[in-house]
Amino acid sequence: MEKSYKRHLVTAALPYANGAVHIGHLAGVYVPADIYVRYLRMRGRDVKFICGSDEHGVPITIKARQQNCSPQEVVDKYHLIIKDSFERLGISFDIYSRTSSDIHHKTASEFFKKLYEDGKFIERESEQYFDEEANHFLADRYITGTCPKCGAENAYGDQCEKCGSTLSPSELINPRSALSGNTPVLKKTSHWYLPLDAYEPWLREWILEQHKEWKTNVYGQCKSWLDGGLQPRAVSRDLEWGVPVPVEGAEGKVLYVWFDAPIGYISNTIELMPDEWEKWWKSEDTRLLHFIGKDNIVFHCIVFPAMLKAYGDGYILPDNVPANEFLNLEGNKISTSRNWAVWLHEYLDDFPGMEDVLRYVLCANAPETKDNDFTWKDFQTRNNSELVAILGNFVNRVVVLTHKYFSGEVPSLLKSEQTDEDTLAQIPVIRKSIEESLENFRFREAIKETMNLARLGNKYLTDTEPWKVAKTDMERVATIMNVSLQICANLAIAFDPFLPHTTQKLAYMLNMKSRNWDDFGSDSILHPGHMVNEPHLLFDKIEDSAIEIQLAKLEASRPSVPVTDSIPEEDAEKTELLPQKEECTYEDFSKMDIRTATVLEAERVPKTDKLLKLTIDTGLDTRTIVSGIAEYYTPEEMVGKQICILANLAPRKIKGIESNGMILMAKEESGKMRIVTPEERIGNGGTVN
Ligand code: 2FM
Ligand code: ZN
Repeated sequence: MEKSYKRHLVTAALPYANGAVHIGHLAGVYVPADIYVRYLRMRGRDVKFICGSDEHGVPITIKARQQNCSPQEVVDKYHLIIKDSFERLGISFDIYSRTSSDIHHKTASEFFKKLYEDGKFIERESEQYFDEEANHFLADRYITGTCPKCGAENAYGDQCEKCGSTLSPSELINPRSALSGNTPVLKKTSHWYLPLDAYEPWLREWILEQHKEWKTNVYGQCKSWLDGGLQPRAVSRDLEWGVPVPVEGAEGKVLYVWFDAPIGYISNTIELMPDEWEKWWKSEDTRLLHFIGKDNIVFHCIVFPAMLKAYGDGYILPDNVPANEFLNLEGNKISTSRNWAVWLHEYLDDFPGMEDVLRYVLCANAPETKDNDFTWKDFQTRNNSELVAILGNFVNRVVVLTHKYFSGEVPSLLKSEQTDEDTLAQIPVIRKSIEESLENFRFREAIKETMNLARLGNKYLTDTEPWKVAKTDMERVATIMNVSLQICANLAIAFDPFLPHTTQKLAYMLNMKSRNWDDFGSDSILHPGHMVNEPHLLFDKIEDSAIEIQLAKLEASRPSVPVTDSIPEEDAEKTELLPQKEECTYEDFSKMDIRTATVLEAERVPKTDKLLKLTIDTGLDTRTIVSGIAEYYTPEEMVGKQICILANLAPRKIKGIESNGMILMAKEESGKMRIVTPEERIGNGGTVN
């Protein structure tokens, strides 16, 4: 943050109102955004935190059909669930509105109109499937047919669920309309396109030259989009649900959801500050930040900036777009459609009063630079061994001892020693490090450093042992308790952006009337004579039984083979293929011990369609690997084949069988998979690099 801005406009991706919010959304977007905003507010900055529901798009109309209700009813339902659960978690938006609001329709419509009138769009004709009986163009998801790749019935126009292939509607064999069941016909339709290619040189300069400081995952994705060459993008759709295209003769057409959604940030700001919004969007003194997940990078770094640039009129562009990667759950990709998720509203019901535990775990384990895994076991451990054992324990010991020895009154510094000074001197150092991490969007590092302050307190108490000293030297105990109380007060400030419910309880316990970031680092926040309140535990231990309940809840949805790649979600608005993965070093690669091996025996794993149990000769040993290849190879075909395996993959149990390694497979675009094998048979155990 080199430039000093007058105000900070922070947006968090507008969640689709076709489902509830889960831990993946939280860890990727809302928890880090909220921490950042709370930090800025603590520092006295002028901040507005903008969000709302994204209520348009085809998936919402599909959900409505499935549930036999209107799209409005779908979004009304989920908007409330999402809004309420964010509030309960303490996500401190200044506004949480919705894109079905009048103000948004008006704003998005005017935005389109100006671009249209300024000649910023190109109009193109294409052929699209049309249902003559329903008198309706069909979005890809509304067309089903036989998959050209695997022959499965009922593949969708954009994807076959059976083999995972990405399809286009014209590839389907025997296409049918989901509306009437009839065969659709191809019909000409015209749409407006934003010629992104025209903005390419400008985008290259703006991102690749002027924003080298963006996170590597964000910069890398932008670079690969730009290097791949940008194409004009359609900004309208033939659909009834959405913002109508405000052009004569455009009946039955709405704005593409990814055109109107980011304008939602603007509409929601207008709703929040009808008289002042322009200052927030059109002044170089405003710092605009978009917190998003990695699947939204192209829209926030390329498409929306191009829209703003095309509009002109002083609109500012984001100064940074801190996007996170994805959070997996118990080794599998989180999936709304497969119900493989931890839903925020359910968590809040199951763990009342434990909002901050979730905030803590999701921040400590946030997928900042790579995809990460949430496990209930880790959740329990972080609560019991960190929140309870470090932070809660320290505060509790200090407040209990203050009551025991000084009836709740902050004692004076009567007898100082070097260790007191050394300990207190650490606090401003920790503060600096937290600030640096937060300002660079390294939230995991920041929360770890904050916990180090509680560690410092615990160490101080353990080293000074006031409970022993109390037998002989109460003056020394007074000093120790004073120093410990100052650390507690600093914790009430330091943890505030991360754990707002907890710091409120802590501040109450310490009877702190106000908390300012500027005091963080001070050794005299609580003055001698100040009374603290009664001790209360900040955190409770989580028992195994609570974790078992959560695991059992998930078990019903567990996929038969681990799913961690990015299979498109049926209910996500379709995006393009993700570009090349983030750069890795040679060291990263060389950690993988890839070897040649031969299959000795193969059999199907009972009660599964996809798994084979293989006994293989690796040259080093004979071992078992369970692999999800039964869809592509029979056991007979596999026996005798030479394969390549990742030999040093940590063992894992699949359907009760311990699997030691992974078979390397090549996946073609259609989803079809073939084993990777040396061009010529070589000895087993040969290394692959
Ligand atoms: O991916 C999503 O959930 C989108 N609804 C995010 C939209 S962000 C913004 F552009 F509105
Ligand atoms: Zn298929």
